[in-house]
Amino acid sequence: MGKKRRLSWAVMVDGRAIWTLNAVPKVSQYGESLRKFKGEEYRRWDPTRSKLGAALSRSRKSQYDLLPQEGDTCLYLGAGHGTSLSHLHDHVCGMDNQKDGRIIAIDLSPRCLRDLVHLSTIRPGLVPVLGDARKHAAWGIMVASKVDWLLQDVSQAGQTEIFINAVNRFLKPGGKGLLSLKAASERFSDAGEKEVFNQVRVQLEDAGLTVEEQIDLHGLEDNHCLYYITN
Ligand SMILES: C[S@@+](CC[C@H](N)C(=O)[O-])C[C@H]1O[C@@H](n2cnc3c(N)ncnc32)[C@H](O)[C@@H]1O
Repeated sequence: MGKKRRLSWAVMVDGRAIWTLNAVPKVSQYGESLRKFKGEEYRRWDPTRSKLGAALSRSRKSQYDLLPQEGDTCLYLGAGHGTSLSHLHDHVCGMDNQKDGRIIAIDLSPRCLRDLVHLSTIRPGLVPVLGDARKHAAWGIMVASKVDWLLQDVSQAGQTEIFINAVNRFLKPGGKGLLSLKAASERFSDAGEKEVFNQVRVQLEDAGLTVEEQIDLHGLEDNHCLYYITN
């Protein structure tokens, strides 16, 4: 067993592995392993199945800053089937939403929504919404006030513009934003991957955002980079 340290009340690093305190004991969400530490059950956060998990593993500068605070209000664009979302929920909400957090999870796929709705029944604090990240008018009403933390992982063309628009509309001043970017989805992807990643950084900075860390996820989530910004 490696040396353990905590990133938060619910997130623990053990050697190279990251674990979250399971808000739904005995339930493995996507086949991840479960393990007890001092009588409490944790789930292993697989960094090859989650860009947020990969970024936490790879971050050199911001490992303690990437996650929101427990009890925060969060917006997640492109929540998929809820893999990363479930770990985020362990930390932001916890069992029976003891931390009083809220995570609004948007996805445009009805199949994903079905899984997210199921997840929300066992993980209170999650608010699944069927919607297109580009069309705020259809679902923006679900985001009553500006959020503390925003993550986007939509892997589609125009990811950077979608992110900048969402940050401008929904992120509190002083909030944290995470953009998971897939190089192959960008229109200038005939440039090399590194060049795409650098161009996106410039685009974010030109929009007035501060890029706190640019994390290359190569080896865990190939072709992806995660940008941690503040506004
Ligand atoms: C890579 S998957 C997300 C994986 C998830 N973030 C995780 O780590 O568990 C990308 C998701 O974005 C969704 N998506 C793509 N374009 C979108 C858009 N414009 N608005 C909302 N969701 C979108 C897809 O349906 C898909 O579920």
